[in-house]
Amino acid sequence: MQIRHPQIKSLQLSNPVILAPMAGITCLPYRRIMKSFGASLVFSEMVSANGLIRDGQKTQLLLATHQNEFPLGIQLFGDDPVVLAKAAEIIKEDSSLLDINMGCPVKKVVRSGAGSALLQEPQRVGQIITAVRKVYPGPLTIKIRSGWDENSLNFLDIGRIAEAEGVDAITLHPRPRSQGFSGNAHWEHIAELKSALNIPVFGSGDIFSAEDGLQMLQQTGCDAIMIGRGGYGNPWLISQILALLAGEKVVYPNSEDKFRVALQHLQLHHEHFGEKKTLLEMRKHLCWYAKGLDGASHFRAALQNTDQLNQVVELLRTFFSQTEAA
Ligand SMILES: Cc1cc2nc3c(=O)[nH]c(=O)nc-3n(C[C@H](O)[C@H](O)[C@H](O)COP(=O)(O)O)c2cc1C
Repeated sequence: MQIRHPQIKSLQLSNPVILAPMAGITCLPYRRIMKSFGASLVFSEMVSANGLIRDGQKTQLLLATHQNEFPLGIQLFGDDPVVLAKAAEIIKEDSSLLDINMGCPVKKVVRSGAGSALLQEPQRVGQIITAVRKVYPGPLTIKIRSGWDENSLNFLDIGRIAEAEGVDAITLHPRPRSQGFSGNAHWEHIAELKSALNIPVFGSGDIFSAEDGLQMLQQTGCDAIMIGRGGYGNPWLISQILALLAGEKVVYPNSEDKFRVALQHLQLHHEHFGEKKTLLEMRKHLCWYAKGLDGASHFRAALQNTDQLNQVVELLRTFFSQTEAA
C-alpha cells in the first residue's frame, strides 16, 4: 500500500500514523518516545481552555514542548466559544495544529458541557469552530465520537458542520459516548464520514497490531490513523505499521530493545518531571513494557516497593536480562 502524506491545511504529514491525544499518557516524554518511532504528528493531553486562560501552573506544565517533537498538535477542551477562542490565541505560537476535543466521555468533562456533551449541541459545535477559526490561522481539527448514544449517531451531521465552518480535518473514534471503551469500534463509521466529507478524515480505535493499522487504512479509506492504547509500552507498533506500509519486513523487539526504550523513557520522564513524579507516573508505563514477558507479575509487585529511581533502574535491568535468558 502506498504511504499517504496527509495534508492538513498548510501542514503536510510525512506519513499517516499519528499519536492519539490521551489524558494522563501523552505528556512530553511519551510524545518524544512515540515521535522517535516515526509518528508523523503527536498530540498533547487535552488542555482545559478555562485553565489556560486563567494561566494555571498545572496547565502550563501540560503545555511544555520540545523542539524534537514537532509537528505537535495541542488539544483543548471547553464548552464556551469565547473562552476557547481566547485559549486558541494563547497557544497559537506553541502548536503546529490545534484540535478541539468533542469526544471525551469522562463525567467531569461532560458535566461541564465539554467533550462528548457537545455532540448533543450541533449548533454550539458550529459556534465554537467559527469563534476559534477567527483567531487561529493554522491547521484546525476536531476529534469526535460517533454520537452521544446508540440512538443519536450524528457524526455525519457534526462532520458536515465542522467542514462548513472551516475545520481542516476531523478525527473519529467510532464509538458513541455511551459505549465507553467496550465492544468494538465501528470502523464503518469512519468510512461513511470519509465518503461524506472533502477534508481529511482520521480514524481512531482498536489498532493493536500493524495489521490492524493497515486494515483500518484499507477498509475505511481514511487519510491517517491514530495510535492510542495499542502503543502502551509498545512504540514499535508505529514503526511496524510504517514497515508494513512500505512493504518492508516487520521487526519485533526483543528484551534488550524493550529494556533500552523503557530506560530511555524513564530517563526522559525524570529529566522533565523529576524523581517523585517519575516514580509515580512511570510505574504503569514500565509494567506495559514488561507485559507478556515471563515474570511480569513479579516485576509489577516489586515495582510497587521502590521509592528511588536507582532501584527502579536496577529492577528493570534485572528483569529484562532474566527474561532475555529465559
Ligand atoms: C487513558 C486515555 C485517555 C484519553 N484521553 C483523550 C484525550 O485527552 N483527548 C481525546 O481526544 N481522546 C482521548 N482518549 C481517546 C483516544 O485518543 C482514542 O481515540 C481512543 O483511546 C481509541 O483509540 P485506541 O483504541 O487506539 O485506544 C483517551 C483514551 C484513553 C485510553
